[in-house]
Amino acid sequence: MSPGKPKFYLTTPIYYTNGLPHIGHTYTTVVADTIRRFKRMRGYEVVMTTGTDEHGVNVERAAKKAGMSETAFVAKMAEEWRALWDELGLTADEFVRTTDLQHVRTVQWLFRLCRENGYVYKGQYTGQYCIYDNAFVNDAKQGDNCPDCGRPTETITEENFFFKLSAFQKPLLDFYRKNPGFIQPETRRNEIVSFVEGGLKDLSITRTTIRWGIPVPGEEPHVFYVWFDALTAYLSAVGGPEFEKRGMWPADLHLVGKDIIRFHTVYWPAFLMAAMLPVPKQVWVHGWFLMDAEKMSKSKGNVVLPRPIANLLGMDALRYFVLREIPFGQDGNFSYDALVTRYNSDLANGLGNLASRAAALIEKNFGGKIPKAAERKPQDEALAKEVQAAIGEVLENYENLSFARALETIWGVIAAADKYLTSEQPWALGNSEQDQARKATILWTTAELLRVVTVLVHPVMPASTTRIWALLGLPGSVASVELDGLRWGQLAPGKQLGPAQTLFPRVEKTEAIERIEAMANEELNPAPAAQPAKAAPSATPAGAAAAPQTAPDKIGIEDFAKVEMRVGQIKTAERIVGADKLLKLTVDIGTEIRQICAGIAQYYEPEKLIGRKVAVVVNLAPRKLRGVESNGMIIAAAVGPEGRPVLAGFPDEDVEIGARLK
Ligand code: MSP
Repeated sequence: MSPGKPKFYLTTPIYYTNGLPHIGHTYTTVVADTIRRFKRMRGYEVVMTTGTDEHGVNVERAAKKAGMSETAFVAKMAEEWRALWDELGLTADEFVRTTDLQHVRTVQWLFRLCRENGYVYKGQYTGQYCIYDNAFVNDAKQGDNCPDCGRPTETITEENFFFKLSAFQKPLLDFYRKNPGFIQPETRRNEIVSFVEGGLKDLSITRTTIRWGIPVPGEEPHVFYVWFDALTAYLSAVGGPEFEKRGMWPADLHLVGKDIIRFHTVYWPAFLMAAMLPVPKQVWVHGWFLMDAEKMSKSKGNVVLPRPIANLLGMDALRYFVLREIPFGQDGNFSYDALVTRYNSDLANGLGNLASRAAALIEKNFGGKIPKAAERKPQDEALAKEVQAAIGEVLENYENLSFARALETIWGVIAAADKYLTSEQPWALGNSEQDQARKATILWTTAELLRVVTVLVHPVMPASTTRIWALLGLPGSVASVELDGLRWGQLAPGKQLGPAQTLFPRVEKTEAIERIEAMANEELNPAPAAQPAKAAPSATPAGAAAAPQTAPDKIGIEDFAKVEMRVGQIKTAERIVGADKLLKLTVDIGTEIRQICAGIAQYYEPEKLIGRKVAVVVNLAPRKLRGVESNGMIIAAAVGPEGRPVLAGFPDEDVEIGARLK
């Protein structure tokens, strides 16, 4: 730790390695990264930890399915998680894997402390176990489904080590009382207090039915129950048994989703109390991102992936959207429509437009040099006051993790600047000395407002604010500005602006959504052969990578044989409301009638397609396009620079419906 700086240690949950990150996981990590940046700008020495939770039955099964050893499987998955966070600019200070040696030692050490202090005993356990959530389901009977995920539970009897959780009812209730801020938000605290008041049963913390876990030393075949193992990752990431040397423990903040609240607010502090170790200061529980009011899952085909969004709109846009759209703590629906709408209105027309407008006016009137403000009028003073008041409000809201409110206030300031420019009309002023002086005041005021906004937005949108900082020609990095010293009036005149930038090019909504969905489909179901005709690429925001669209040079016949193509006949065709490019078709493929969406609406009249024979890829995994299920793909050539689709067909022969294409 650096002397003199207060420390702040925060964590995301460590993520399961049997799948890859979706927007829900990205959400927690974005929040953590934003807090990390904010706290650094407030002068804290910050450590943020994330990582992967790599033990348990699910991993055992997933590895088997992938035909790999567990060790190789988790190494590959952990690498993919780490690489995606890097790609999205969400690199944590510590990435802990539960298969790391340091972690294994920490778990074994924590267990020993709990046992030495008399809180661990051996017993028999029979219960209903949910293998998907890796948890015994308290009070469930044989045949019951898991209340969390709704899938069937399994009855398990085994010898376990038990943790005397029952001994912690009173200590926990006392702890919650003395630390009213420990569980946030308040409603979650009440929920947990009544749960603990209802009585606590001892908890089984080891298994003999699982092979893939951390061994309990001298007690093999016992391995640690995944939650005893996983929670300890927070401690192993900052030194484990030697945590005092690093000086980061106890954690200041654990960020968790509402599904894992009990583990973090009841079991985890109890384990630490039993070991006589310091307990974390706060657990902040957030809601879920839902798709059509349902939890996302790959099996439901409704997961939203972060990469396609970041590729098309830029990661900052995704960060802004998730923090702005849902009050932190509540559930909210994810919609591409809302995402692109906000991108265009708040970023392209809002912040981006203000920045380029201010820069262009300063360029034109003052040769790109920040002017010196002359005499101030009441409207200039009023704007300055509004910005000064916003600074305090925004910092307080960030501190309380009220991101949506903080951003609302900042965007209020942006709107005030637009209004100010529109009413002051610096472009309508002439070249007299008086007019020049007035222009200087207006443009200095605008640039100063933009500087303050840039600093305030930085924790949420690090990449674009770095670019605005350069555009304003400001020295150093925006990340190193001390938030507590931020005041109206600090912008020095005379600095030369940096080169002009387009920060957030406007996108056409329908096309943007289609492109994001196409990229997501590609990522979820990597196609072995030709892809459907794609829309011509539109302007991609600077800094965002282009969509990967490469195919291998050559494939073997065995690869081609994986694609099953058949002759189909179109039975019905209709347009899809809100998706200009898509047609919903039903197609007879000989053995059944399929619903297939095709991106041909701008070039084919639905009525004229009825009866037409087409080439169909029939063994493509079903996917959703603009919310409509598509079960197959119609083959079309992409013609010209626009990629105009021309349907492949069979004009010369009367081919049989269902005939295979080879
Ligand atoms: N491995 C455990 C956590 C152990 S922490 C010591 C786990 N992993 S998880 O990968 O299933 O989930 C990690 C986090 O992602 C949880 O906080 C969960 O709430 C969050 N989310 C998963 N889906 C989500 C949404 N759709 N929306 C928001 N967050 C969600 O649980």
